[in-house]
Amino acid sequence: MTVVAPGANGNGSLAQVPLAIEVEHIVKKFGDFTAVNDISFQVADGEIFGLLGPNGAGKSTLIRMMTTLIPITSGHARIAGHDVEKQADRARRAIGVIPQALTSDLDLTVEENLGIYAKLYDVPAKQRKQSIDELLELVDLTKWRNAQTKTLSGGMRRRLEIARGLVHHPRIFFLDEPTTGLDPVSRVAVWEMLSNIKSRRQLTILITTHYMDEADRLCNRIAIVDHGKLVALDTPVALKSSVPGSNVIEVQFATPPSGWEQRLRSLPAVTSVQAEGAEMFRILTGDGPRTTTQLVEAAVQAGVPLRSLSVVNTTLDDVFVHYTGRQLRDELVKAYGFVMPQRPGLQP
Ligand SMILES: Nc1ncnc2c1ncn2[C@@H]1O[C@H](COP(=O)(O)OP(=O)(O)OP(=O)(O)O)[C@@H](O)[C@H]1O
Ligand SMILES: [Mg+2]
Repeated sequence: MTVVAPGANGNGSLAQVPLAIEVEHIVKKFGDFTAVNDISFQVADGEIFGLLGPNGAGKSTLIRMMTTLIPITSGHARIAGHDVEKQADRARRAIGVIPQALTSDLDLTVEENLGIYAKLYDVPAKQRKQSIDELLELVDLTKWRNAQTKTLSGGMRRRLEIARGLVHHPRIFFLDEPTTGLDPVSRVAVWEMLSNIKSRRQLTILITTHYMDEADRLCNRIAIVDHGKLVALDTPVALKSSVPGSNVIEVQFATPPSGWEQRLRSLPAVTSVQAEGAEMFRILTGDGPRTTTQLVEAAVQAGVPLRSLSVVNTTLDDVFVHYTGRQLRDELVKAYGFVMPQRPGLQP
């Protein structure tokens, strides 16, 4: 069905396209606590749509409502045109879901885990083998089809779960943090696999992630969710250009004095300064060349040695800080006590 989709937020608007996901003023309350607070967006057929947000933002709750796993407090969600509450079975048949926690049976083999799901979804016996063979190939686990799932690495288990979620040929695929906790090489392997699957199957993907580089690379559009609210929605390029300050300067000083951050912030044309540790600063400015000169002058005047200076592109990290007022990395450190490398430098 083709639906005229009004622009969400006035940004990232969809033209006249078929819609895979429509969420209208959706709310989820747990007692007095509002976990999802009046969120609306639409995802077009064939899009890769990213939900980005810190811990507790409401991403998993949103996915659980869209995939019929928990009741909606108010508002509506339609998946492939089916209302998730009134036509839950139809909606379920259109979707594959990879939940945040790993859920494959550890005592079964890779193939048995896939076979059980195929049966649960009534995939006819003939197609079952064909679908499993194709998926094992796509996720690069053909050699491991008879291995017990408990012998697989974390990254391989994730790939098995991705294959499992696709065994019944869903049109819409929900993945809740498919790469959290994986090492950088396994993360890149999962991205490549998803891109590969996407090129082979007609699929719409909704993915949640903590990783900005992942969202930037994979997603056609990104929604940033914070405290249960949608705070921004657009393409990665448009989100980055919506941040005031067209240049980013990364500068490192040797043992800067106290108040140095404020000094940097006071330079004309500077729109924001983020300290990354004691010596490193990420500065957004509307005038890169002018701010660079002023930074050097300020350092010379104050007798603060400059260690390095580079002008880099705006990233989704800057977008996140702009819309939420804090760094996603700080949130992760609070939640887990550690943070995965942000820029693994692995660009396949
Ligand atoms: N069943 C529940 N009962 C009460 N509160 C809940 C329940 N499920 C989630 N919440 C709360 O709702 C908020 C949103 O949780 P949710 O799991 O959706 O966040 P998230 O964005 O997926 O976070 P994370 O990145 O940690 O996975 C959190 O404050 C959480 O504690
Ligand atoms: Mg979650």
